[in-house]
Amino acid sequence: MAFIQRRGLMLGAVGLGFTGLMRPAFAQAPAAAPTAAPTGPFTLPPLGYAFDKNEAAIDARTMELHHRFHHQAYVTGLNAAVAGQDALARMPLDELVTNYAQAPEALRTRLRNFGGGHANHSMFWEIMGGAGGEPSGPLKAAIDRDLGGFGELKNRFNAAAMGVFGSGWSFVTVTREGRLAITTKPNQDSPLMDGQRALMGNDVWEHAYYLRYQNRRVEYVGKWWDVLDWARISARFDAAMAGTLKV
Ligand SMILES: [Fe+2]
Repeated sequence: MAFIQRRGLMLGAVGLGFTGLMRPAFAQAPAAAPTAAPTGPFTLPPLGYAFDKNEAAIDARTMELHHRFHHQAYVTGLNAAVAGQDALARMPLDELVTNYAQAPEALRTRLRNFGGGHANHSMFWEIMGGAGGEPSGPLKAAIDRDLGGFGELKNRFNAAAMGVFGSGWSFVTVTREGRLAITTKPNQDSPLMDGQRALMGNDVWEHAYYLRYQNRRVEYVGKWWDVLDWARISARFDAAMAGTLKV
């Protein structure tokens, strides 16, 4: 119950904050087009490990292209979208993505795609770089309680990932009630848009696996578990339960 109350308060505050911040921006005339591509306020997070660290599942070249160019493109697009929009530019990424639908209509699609892409990929790099294995501690207990155990989690998560038509993501989320759930999202949509937190997720856009696996998504989805860092995912779970997990 304490978790629900904290989370409810937090999300409520986020929504109110967004609305309060947004109104002045609505009233402003559209900003003049910038003369050069803005380099902030959002930035590409460092990978935190070498490009070949996930070689057991993802080749180094794919990791480099994916991080340096694909993720950077989402950051660049997001910075362009918020250029001249002071209230939006000051907003933390999780709040921006959670509340994108309240933004001016002309900006919504870019905030959704670029903001979601920035959030999703930031999570994606964080949870990899490990050696696989299995979760332990409170996260294991939550998986046992909500998802039927680790084996069932893998089966259901992989089936969800295989069921994504075209480009998108498979996620384990932490719901508003503090429960784990499996969901998928198209394109760069984020569980934040449903008021949930992304505990972990797999990118099943072809750019994530095509160089090594070509059309064999099922092989990529199966191998991906070998490079997960369960210590980091456990830390994300603890943060989600404390109401402090961002993206
Ligand atoms: Fe991606």
